[in-house]
Amino acid sequence: MSNDRELLLRLVHEYSSPLYVYDIGVVRAQVQRLLDSVGWKKKQILYAVKANYNPSILALIREMGLSIDTVSPAEVHLALASGFSPRHIMFTANNCSDADLQEVHALGVLCNLDSLSALRRFARMFPGSPVCLRINPEITAGSHKAVQTAGVHVKFGILPEDLGEVVSIAKSAGLSIVGLHEHTGSGMIDPEDYLKGAKKLAELLTPQNFPHLQFVDFGGGLGVPYQPDTPELPTAILGAKLSALFEDICKSFGRELELCMEPGKYLVAQCGTLLVQVTTLRNNRGKLIAGVNSGFSHLIRPVLYGAYHHIENLSNPSAATAIYDVVGNICESGDYFAEERALPEIREGDILAIRTAGAYGASMASLYNLRPLPGEVSVENGKVLRHIERRSNKDLSSHFR
Ligand SMILES: Cc1ncc(COP(=O)(O)O)c(C=O)c1O
Repeated sequence: MSNDRELLLRLVHEYSSPLYVYDIGVVRAQVQRLLDSVGWKKKQILYAVKANYNPSILALIREMGLSIDTVSPAEVHLALASGFSPRHIMFTANNCSDADLQEVHALGVLCNLDSLSALRRFARMFPGSPVCLRINPEITAGSHKAVQTAGVHVKFGILPEDLGEVVSIAKSAGLSIVGLHEHTGSGMIDPEDYLKGAKKLAELLTPQNFPHLQFVDFGGGLGVPYQPDTPELPTAILGAKLSALFEDICKSFGRELELCMEPGKYLVAQCGTLLVQVTTLRNNRGKLIAGVNSGFSHLIRPVLYGAYHHIENLSNPSAATAIYDVVGNICESGDYFAEERALPEIREGDILAIRTAGAYGASMASLYNLRPLPGEVSVENGKVLRHIERRSNKDLSSHFR
């Protein structure tokens, strides 16, 4: 979203702050870019809905023919209520309970199981069912330890050495393993990181072990540039190489399979901006600290992952810069959006735009300190599509009474 300063200032004037703004046109372009890059015809892109639950985003995802990856029963209900049919939803459960599996299976949604324990329980409860399995290919990718989701020390997926047992459990319960899945990490910019995991998974595919196989899902993890002037994922290269690899996979498997990918961040990160207002300026013996009316309860990525989010001072863009910490209103000293950041002079009342906040911003927000979640506005071509109002303080407090 560049050159959108006037629009954002208008929106914050109308809807107040803190406010998440989503440019749906950006999501549309990212979806199209990914679809165009993967030449393999039999493909399915599943949007990892945990990245952002905004209804305008979900409506677009459905309109563009994507499916949905979910990680909780409530996400499954959201996908169904948003118009996705059960066959376009996958449930990728981590440490799920029997109750989770029962609820999701009853809704006709395919379960993607990520442990031998879940597979054994699923086999007991639902013999004869189709199932997908999340494999841990022991290839670790990802921009931060917390988002590295494969390797022997992580809690996700079934290790390759357990595949013999998987096959025997499936056989004795009459389960059809229709899909194999992996998700090795998040924030990949080098296509080779993604392809490394895909090649490892490919080594495990044999028609003898998986006679019912219909698709292979290589997961999400496609990264976006968070800092200006940093490289983008060369999506066309990734798509071409993945399609070529998949062609080889299908040849050696002996028939055509469906290629699935499961991006979250890649589709929605760049569409989002969190607008906040500066409430308090401090000068602590020369250290400038700008306090704003939001905090890590609304965007936790800087605190959780040390993530960089670009910040612009929309109210004073041409002023000389100074070095600021930009901090939140949560009662924790670790509550910051940026440390030692050069920004145009900040004044109390200024509106700051925190960029690339469309993925894992609002969806990871909490009610900590009982600050209401930000409002959300979706726009396309400068027109407002939908506004989700921020709850009032009084209304929020009543939640706990
Ligand atoms: C199973 C699974 N699929 C897909 C994703 C989406 O990852 P990303 O947003 O990095 O594409 C995640 C993220 O945690 C995940 O756990």
